[in-house]
Amino acid sequence: METIYLIGFMGAGKTTVGKILADLLGYSFYDLDEYIEKTAAQSIPEIFAEKGEAHFRLLEARALRSLPVRQAVVATGGGTAAGRGNLPYMLEKGLVVHLAGDFSRMYARAAGDGRERPLIAAKSREECFRLYQSRLPFYRKAHFSVDTTDRSPAEIARTILERLKERENGKTFPEKAERKDEREYE
Ligand code: S3P
Repeated sequence: METIYLIGFMGAGKTTVGKILADLLGYSFYDLDEYIEKTAAQSIPEIFAEKGEAHFRLLEARALRSLPVRQAVVATGGGTAAGRGNLPYMLEKGLVVHLAGDFSRMYARAAGDGRERPLIAAKSREECFRLYQSRLPFYRKAHFSVDTTDRSPAEIARTILERLKERENGKTFPEKAERKDEREYE
C-alpha cells in the first residue's frame, strides 16, 4: 500500500500513533522531525535558532520528498501540511490522515511532553491558537480525519487501520471528515 502520512497540529499524537500503526501494518515508521535532525545533524530548535524557520521549511520539504512512498507510515510535523507544495505531494503519493483534536488538549500536550518546540516556546497560547486555525484548512484536505479526543493512541491507530481496510474493500476517499476540531477556543 502507499505511504500513510499523519498530519495535524503539534501535540496531536502523530508520532505515538504512527509508531503503533506502522507496527500493526508491518511498515517502516518515519518521524519527519527526527529524520530532519539526523540529516542536518542539528536539533530542530538549533535549526530554528541558527538558520531560521524558512530554512527549516526547506529542509522539511526536502526530507518529505526523500522518504519512501510505499509501505511506510510518516509522522509529519505540525506545519508540514501547510508548507508549499507539501500537501499536494502527500495527497498524490500516499494516503493523508488528519489526527484531529481539541486545541486545548493538543496545546497542553505540546507544551508539556518534554519535546522542545521552537514555535511553542516563542508564541503565546493565543498565538498558537491562531496558528492552529490558520492550519485547519490544510489539515481538512486530508483523505480522512480521525477524532483523537478521549481515545488512546492504540485506539486511534486501530481506527485508522479499519478505515484503511474499508478503503481496500472499495470505499473511496475523500469522505466527509469528522469535524470535532471546530470547537471554540476555551
Ligand atoms: C512545527 C511542529 C513540530 C516541528 C517544528 C515546527 C510546526 O513538529 O516540525 O517544531 O510548525 O507546527 P510536531 O508537530 O511533531 O511537534
